[in-house]
Amino acid sequence: MPFALPPPAPRAVTRRALLAAAVALPALASGRGPVRLRFSHVVAPDTPKGRMALHFQALVHERAGDRLRVEVHPDSQLWGDDDEIEALRLGAVEMLAPSLSKFGMAGVPEFEVFDLPYLFSEAAQVRRVTEGPVGQALLRRLERQQVLGLGFLDNGLKHMSAQRPLRRVADFAGLRVRVQASRVIEAQWRALGAQPVVLPFAETRRALASGVVNATENPLSNFLTQGLASVQPQLTLTGHGYLGYAVVTNPRFWASLPMADQRLLTDALRAALAQGNRWAAELDRDALLALQRQTGVAVHQPSEAERDGLRRALRGVSQMVERGPQGQWLKDVRAALLAK
Ligand code: LMR
Repeated sequence: MPFALPPPAPRAVTRRALLAAAVALPALASGRGPVRLRFSHVVAPDTPKGRMALHFQALVHERAGDRLRVEVHPDSQLWGDDDEIEALRLGAVEMLAPSLSKFGMAGVPEFEVFDLPYLFSEAAQVRRVTEGPVGQALLRRLERQQVLGLGFLDNGLKHMSAQRPLRRVADFAGLRVRVQASRVIEAQWRALGAQPVVLPFAETRRALASGVVNATENPLSNFLTQGLASVQPQLTLTGHGYLGYAVVTNPRFWASLPMADQRLLTDALRAALAQGNRWAAELDRDALLALQRQTGVAVHQPSEAERDGLRRALRGVSQMVERGPQGQWLKDVRAALLAK
């Protein structure tokens, strides 16, 4: 079945973001007093992103004392999926690390290439792309949307959960699945016969508990820390897609910092991201053990034949991207994966 991507939905400027913008300008470094750098994210502190943000905060404190004050706001406490990028553009927060999937709807659809099912077989492979010229070119694309990209961070491979195991294509029929707002992810679920429902991360557990949706996908550390096991008793280790992040800032805020502080923050972030990637691999392994030992979740490992069945059913999604406006990006990503 052929798939066509709908045009990105225009994003409404929320009232909350507009109000926040009214008080945002003092956040620009003025040369007087300490600089406050609010780092907002949507996941729990004990995840790759949560730990990386806290490590960055500690490194900046070590190197700059109180002169540069990083404040970390986890769990969508400050901004959530619906308004965080808008809040960044308006100067109501200085740093975010949205999942790569969330930049498509923010006007940078090139990032949706990362959502393609079965493009990567392990998170470490993604670094061949993000640490090379393709990764740098993608970060530069963000500038058109008044966002400055500073680096990439892994979480891990995504798996699927529901009230039943999801091994064969027929198992997906009729599921209502919570997804991130990515057209590639939506096409993926439709190809499997399920209905994607875009919901903010912070609302996912409640929506699963109340039956608004009855399936979802995420890496293991998010399954564990969001307590999804109690509402999704069957976890299938499909490893069908990748979830990672881009750390971004407001370009006006960044330009208002002295060069020495830009360098200090860039160095601290580079160290925090390297450590964050090591934690991502570790937390992925630990989360699987914790899910198996501490929750009642049943973990299913699809056979090679079942995996192939899913892969075949999802081939149309890759073809859709190959033929669409992001086709060249996909070629470049594949070339980076093959390069020695
Ligand atoms: C999701 O919305 O499912 C995840 O991207 C959340 C995150 O930031 O890991």
